[in-house]
Amino acid sequence: MRRAKITIVGAGNVGATTAHWCAAAELGNIVLLDIPQTGDMPKGKGLDLLQASPIMSFDSSITGTTSYEDTVGSDVVVITAGIPRKPGMSRDDLLATNAKIMTDVCEQVKRTSEHAVVIVVSNPLDAMVQRAMQVTGFEPSRVVGQAGILDTARYRAFLSMELGVSVKDISALLMGGHGDTMVPIPSCTSVGGMPITQLIDKKRLDEIVDRTRNGGAEIVSLLKTGSAYYAPSAATAQMVEAVIRDQKRVVPCAAYCDKEYGVGGYYVGVPVVLGASGVERIIELKLTAEEQAAFQKSVQAVKELVGAMGKLV
Ligand code: LAC
Repeated sequence: MRRAKITIVGAGNVGATTAHWCAAAELGNIVLLDIPQTGDMPKGKGLDLLQASPIMSFDSSITGTTSYEDTVGSDVVVITAGIPRKPGMSRDDLLATNAKIMTDVCEQVKRTSEHAVVIVVSNPLDAMVQRAMQVTGFEPSRVVGQAGILDTARYRAFLSMELGVSVKDISALLMGGHGDTMVPIPSCTSVGGMPITQLIDKKRLDEIVDRTRNGGAEIVSLLKTGSAYYAPSAATAQMVEAVIRDQKRVVPCAAYCDKEYGVGGYYVGVPVVLGASGVERIIELKLTAEEQAAFQKSVQAVKELVGAMGKLV
């Protein structure tokens, strides 16, 4: 069987760690790309990771490069390129710099991998994925943003710490933008099938939601030199796997919503079915009045961000 070809743009911490998870899971052959100014760094990381394969016993070729010619015909392109946050910055502070980078990257992706599913990871996520769709001109279902799996994973991790139970038994959903307005959906959060609302009181649950919303900033303030990468890249690798293996996973992703949820043509975090062709379906949930109001507020924040991006570049 032909191995899938996975290109990861950006060989920084998120990109390289995504390559690591994807290689270890034998999802395909990996091309790790960065800009020419990084010199031989991507080659070095690619070779280093390849040399781990005899030890960890995985069959994936990994190529580091600064040339898009090595990415031609990729099945999946993951875009992590962009500057990360520094302490005190919000994701939105990255807008101008990363919108420019995203435009340059997507012009190359359009030229070299016209049939790929594109997974965007760069921040501010909801605006960057919109830009990627506009510049590639790919159908919106083939361009998808990673955020919901990460945010939900943080929420699940905190709930597991709180309850002293396995993360495996916690199922949850967060929707909306990947920012301070992200929306937990308590009606879709359960522990071993039991509703979360029967296990944690509202006040404590609100505190955990708050910590989740600030989950990225918490890591930034601890690291001081960049933002989170283990969990973001694990979330990204899960999306790559869903596409490569046509798994039809039901996961929250930033997907293009037009009529769905009445969003009107923006990328926001919603539950989707993720498979070989990208976002195969958006699942429209009936939200409670409170959840609906919070979701609308989050969509509004995304619209403002995309509006600000339109004025910039
Ligand atoms: C975070 C950044 C990467 O949430 O968005 O950690």
